[in-house]
Amino acid sequence: MANRDLFDLPVQEFTSLSELEDYIKKFRCSRCSHARVVFGDGNPQAKLVFIGEAPGEEEDRQGIPFVGKSGMLLNKMLQSINLTRKEVYICNAIKCRPPNNKTPTQAEIDACNPFLVAQLKLLKPKIICTLGSPALKALLGIKESITKIRGKWLKYEALDADVLPTFHPAYLLRDPSKKREAWEDFQMLAQKYRST
Ligand code: URA
Repeated sequence: MANRDLFDLPVQEFTSLSELEDYIKKFRCSRCSHARVVFGDGNPQAKLVFIGEAPGEEEDRQGIPFVGKSGMLLNKMLQSINLTRKEVYICNAIKCRPPNNKTPTQAEIDACNPFLVAQLKLLKPKIICTLGSPALKALLGIKESITKIRGKWLKYEALDADVLPTFHPAYLLRDPSKKREAWEDFQMLAQKYRST
């Protein structure tokens, strides 16, 4: 398939995650043709899905989301609520590592959004946890600061899923004083997970 930039993705045509993954890999969006597609990891039947920002260097190398330093912290956060990454599903708003590892622009979020929507349609999670501002922006179009909106339940109406925004693990690594609030958010997630 030739390189394309902005596009109109026929999301309704995908019947499985592997079909969608293959499509994205063949698609070769010109914004990200330098990088590898990092699609998702974990249990495709999971009721809880985590959405991060975009793959980093290690994720680009391995083709798996959250396997670098942020991923190690995410694993620990999951452990704190007695979950493992095999029980949940983990993906990113942006499927390829942005050039120079920059925070994705709105245009990049918009360009990749049909892929995220298609992926969620197939996963049908009951609960979604967005990690950091770009993931929340991509899912719900909310631009409010993550410090203000974290820890508040929101709704992803298209799937009737409950959404909890929290800090991105990379932010917690830079500012460990925020770990307490993230821990509280994870307690809320655990409670919802057990009752859903
Ligand atoms: N940060 C993200 O947002 N996603 C990854 O996969 C890794 C780091």
